[in-house]
Amino acid sequence: MLIKKFFSQILVLVCLAAAAAAQAQNLPNVVILATGGTIAGTGATTTTTVGYTAAKVGVDALIAAVPELKKVANVRGEQTMQIASENMNNDAWLKLAKRINVLLAQSDVDGIVITHGTDTIEETAYFLDLVVKSKKPVVIVGAMRPSTAISADGPINLYNAVLLAGSKEAIGKGVLVTLNDQINAGREVTKTNTSTLDTFKTPELGYLGYIQGSKPFFYRQSTRKNTADTPFDITNLDKLPQVDIVYGYANMNPIALNAFVAAGAQGIIHAGVGDGSLNNTVVPSLTEARKKGVVIVRSSRVGQGIVARNGEADDDKLDFVVSDTLNAQKARILLMLALTKTTDTKEIQKMFWEY
Ligand code: DGL
Repeated sequence: MLIKKFFSQILVLVCLAAAAAAQAQNLPNVVILATGGTIAGTGATTTTTVGYTAAKVGVDALIAAVPELKKVANVRGEQTMQIASENMNNDAWLKLAKRINVLLAQSDVDGIVITHGTDTIEETAYFLDLVVKSKKPVVIVGAMRPSTAISADGPINLYNAVLLAGSKEAIGKGVLVTLNDQINAGREVTKTNTSTLDTFKTPELGYLGYIQGSKPFFYRQSTRKNTADTPFDITNLDKLPQVDIVYGYANMNPIALNAFVAAGAQGIIHAGVGDGSLNNTVVPSLTEARKKGVVIVRSSRVGQGIVARNGEADDDKLDFVVSDTLNAQKARILLMLALTKTTDTKEIQKMFWEY
């Protein structure tokens, strides 16, 4: 009798294992690349939502904190770096992008999630939108409250990100950013509030969609070329051209601009007032920089809308480029990558119209 019971229990275990294996076979394979940020942050108390320490919790602990991930994907993690994202830099971007391209070239990887500090998510998202060479989903996720806080948003954001990265709906949409159940495009998303949970928005152009009841819902997608459809290949790059940003304001002066050029900047993004307007005090320095071969892009500090070519300045005569709708920090990324291909301003302007 005992033997019969023993073998029937073994049979049950074998059936359960087979069912689990069958389920796992049907689930997408998603790799989580952890870089740090608040999602991995810890605070002194459960009510500490400012003044905590970012980039403390490892990727395996982040995954273990959300057992529900196993229901939507076969997940494994890699700790690519462990930094607060204000310290994100070109070397880190190149390392992250190269790892993503290697992983996405593997047939057993269906999507990538990057956990990241929220301060520079919008920049990393656009950089990857331009250099990832696959149509498979790449989703960047962060949190506005540390992992130790009451109602921490990291776990649900991570669950949503893995779900999205494993979804067929996210294929071919470019790099995506999800927090707070919302889906934004990497090219357009920006941080709009220093501390609230709904800080990531695409002002005016709007979200791509939402995640609700463990399912992504898309209502639009970016019209701009991205990922596999761009010419930017970072495979053999170990550094990126120096491009700096000059911020426009009333009563400004050319001190910062001149310093950037003297330090060897190959490109300058001028975040002008209004429609990219130039204060008279900086025009001589900009034209002097252009004569030295520095590529000048007129962007705007406003953050939304088109910076019109030949609107607030004679770009044809000055041989300047305009940033279209890219804010200054995103225009910097496109100009850096453009300068790895060409210094021809007509070619570069075309890139700002296409990506
Ligand atoms: N230090 C900031 C960062 O790593 C914390 C903000 C966050 O991740 O939400 O971006």
